[in-house]
Amino acid sequence: MMNIVAASDLEGTSGDLLVLPVYEERVWGPGAEEIALDLGDWLEAYLDGLDFTGKVGQMAAMPGNDGFSRVLFVGLGAEADADVLRRAAGVAGRAALRYEKVVTTLSQVDIEGAADAVVNGFLLGQYKYGKYLSKPKPSQTTELVLVGAEDEGEITHGRLIAEAVAMARDLVNEPASGKAPEVLADIARDMADELGIDITVYDETEIVAARFGGLRAVSLGATNPPRMVVMRYRPDGAEKTLALIGKGIVFDSGGLSIKPASGMETMKTDMAGAAAVFGAMRAIAGLGVAVNVTAITPLTENMTGGAAQRPGDVFTARNGKTVEVLNTDAEGRLVLADGLALAAEEEPDLMVDIATLTGACMVALGKKVAGALGHDDDAVAQVEAAARRAGEKLWRLPLEKEYRTLLDSPIADLKNIGGRYGGAITAGLFLAEFADDRPWVHLDIAGPARADSEDAHITKGGTGYSVSTLVALAEDMASA
Ligand code: BES
Ligand code: ZN
Ligand code: ZN
Repeated sequence: MMNIVAASDLEGTSGDLLVLPVYEERVWGPGAEEIALDLGDWLEAYLDGLDFTGKVGQMAAMPGNDGFSRVLFVGLGAEADADVLRRAAGVAGRAALRYEKVVTTLSQVDIEGAADAVVNGFLLGQYKYGKYLSKPKPSQTTELVLVGAEDEGEITHGRLIAEAVAMARDLVNEPASGKAPEVLADIARDMADELGIDITVYDETEIVAARFGGLRAVSLGATNPPRMVVMRYRPDGAEKTLALIGKGIVFDSGGLSIKPASGMETMKTDMAGAAAVFGAMRAIAGLGVAVNVTAITPLTENMTGGAAQRPGDVFTARNGKTVEVLNTDAEGRLVLADGLALAAEEEPDLMVDIATLTGACMVALGKKVAGALGHDDDAVAQVEAAARRAGEKLWRLPLEKEYRTLLDSPIADLKNIGGRYGGAITAGLFLAEFADDRPWVHLDIAGPARADSEDAHITKGGTGYSVSTLVALAEDMASA
């Protein structure tokens, strides 16, 4: 594990790499001017040649002088906020993978939570998934020195959240063959034991007994049995309760409404909602946030076995509503129906479900922005504020009541698809049927759960998107 320490002054420190911030138009950030003068006259021309002006995301590496083998300048743009710092630190983290001892003055940038953001971004930029490589190249960094960091708590906060995001990334990046529902339930059990939180795991028999009809219906085509995992964190002094419900489809083939081959390539990602809930639970309990959290993760594969549900089949969900399944590829809403109904029974102050739910949401908002839907304006605003603080992008889509008739079924209470248009909205309207009119927000993370390329602290593959937002939300609820 990387050792992260604070130093009061740059003077007298040494290391393998020194990371220094630079604002737009090459205005030196904390500590950078002295080092720049020291490096020599060639520096400006060298940076000109690299076209390094100090924009966010830019970096420029060069040989160092006494004390440091190399120096890395990273851009902060015109003005730095926590998000900019996190991104700059992510760029630095990736560039620092080969260096053992890294020192930075990014933590001296004068904004609240600077050390937190730098630790968080640096660790996430260094994230690697090397489990299946015959020659993995893990980070060589053993020590990160933060100049000017005064608050030990900030370092812990940044680190714990980064570790929770990394856990979610690991779970998403794991191939489906290595994360059957039973395996994920065991991981949850180990985590709950470690954190000292309560956990209940329903097996396939108990799922039937508990009337989780949606989870059961989706699981019928799979050989690996489903699991419903419910964790409860109940700290001293908590007044409010947050329920988190994560879609845990460990592989989505589409079922009998089968996907084309290309559509299946990344469908091990379809449990990213559950992974985010696991990660958030780890960080919230690890930090001791004073809010009750109930985490509900229905886990199953969506496969095509001989017992698979057929288009046209009807099941009864936990809350008694019947659903006609016309497309077995709209399976996420079916398992979430039971999860939401179970959550609502506890009457929490706020319910948030997180799901890689619709391709339609990606069409609407692209790959980097999640959709947020809900009838309760205050609840949505609360989640929006948390996401802003966490540096994660989301945008509200309307839960248009007029579209509810698109889900009318001639033979059941509702059907599971709503036609060609507004697919992210009709999916949200379907979920609303199971939230029992309680404060509830649905996050459609189909786009941002996975990244096609590296981007600052975001690494290619599973991103751990929404872990940070959920932790920020829990913290807001604790202090409110
Ligand atoms: N898991 C998919 C949604 C998805 C697609 C996530 C692409 C990430 C990338 C979901 O289960 C699904 O297949 N949804 C269907 C719903 C449709 C049949 C109403 C979709 O979006 O096409
Ligand atoms: Zn699907
Ligand atoms: Zn799915």
